[in-house]
Amino acid sequence: PVPLRALAERADLRIGTAVDMAALDDDTTYRRATGREFNSVTAENVMKWEVVEPTRGTYDWSGADELVRFARDRGQVVRGHTLVWHSQLPGWLTAGVADGSIGAGELRGILRKHVTTEVKRYKGRIQQWDVVNEVFEEDGSLRNSIWLQKLGPSYIADAFRWAHAADPKAKLFLNDYNVEGVNAKSTAYYELAKRLRAEGVPVQGFGIQGHLAIQYGFPGEVAGNLARFERLGMQTAFTEVDVRMILPADAEKLATQATYFRGLLDACLGARSCKSFTVWGFTDKYSWVPGVFAGQGAATLTTEDFGRKPAYGAVGEGLAEG
Ligand code: G3I
Repeated sequence: PVPLRALAERADLRIGTAVDMAALDDDTTYRRATGREFNSVTAENVMKWEVVEPTRGTYDWSGADELVRFARDRGQVVRGHTLVWHSQLPGWLTAGVADGSIGAGELRGILRKHVTTEVKRYKGRIQQWDVVNEVFEEDGSLRNSIWLQKLGPSYIADAFRWAHAADPKAKLFLNDYNVEGVNAKSTAYYELAKRLRAEGVPVQGFGIQGHLAIQYGFPGEVAGNLARFERLGMQTAFTEVDVRMILPADAEKLATQATYFRGLLDACLGARSCKSFTVWGFTDKYSWVPGVFAGQGAATLTTEDFGRKPAYGAVGEGLAEG
């Protein structure tokens, strides 16, 4: 079949995948498919803080540099993921905050330096940055992270301003899961984005991760959710799409899964604001799902031996029609 990226180019869409760098290095089937099928890539882990600054002041950009080079050589854009998050923080940082050796004033400076250093390093090479990731709880209250506890809610606007100063052309995104449809959490993002933009804070995009599970049903009002962010003048993107199921997979579950992928893709293709659709890995061989949700998996477009599932066909058809 025609590679997804060729179909996506005709539909004026970026079709992306998260990239596992160990697999990219060691698995030639994976490496070839990453280049052949996608015109956008996201680092699954290697741009996260714990990886890039494992020891305070000592940086390891090897994985991130390698991915950016890989993408450039293949005409792919890069989504940067992620600058400010409560998870995958370096041990020196969480320990320093916990034992009080890093106070609030110093912490703000540390965050500013992190954002500035990373964004500057890849200036001009990142199309979209996930600047803040997963800052709301399901009920729409701000997540009680070290950032909120020590810096207060202003850390969000600060992070966007710092990122914008470091690379004025990169599109800067909020990003979260369980925000596909209209609900308390996505509405909290809508209100936050509206307020930030009214204040002149440089936030240009809303990233919808899209981690779905067939046993929970397809979210409601996805098109309406995209439309309201579009009315704010923002871009939208699906940033981490996968659709898990309770194992074992069977033909019926895989057919349902295909309709879920297609449902999110069609919502994107139907919205002028949505020009980027990324899957969180494209083979079950390296999917994060079974490691986190015991007894669940089969969440990606292809099997562990890269066999194309119904979902792969559905995405291809959606792109061809899009
Ligand atoms: O880096 C260590 C490595 O040194 C060690 O040998 C290995 C042994 O287990 O662990 C490695 O770290 C793991 C890392 O993935 C790299 O493989 C972590 O334990 C593991 O927790 C980590 O999981 C990642 C997870 O984020 C962490 O929260 C997943 O790969 C990644 O897919 C997942 O991605 C997140 C997005 O960033 C945000 N949205 C949700 C999404 C799914 O959870």
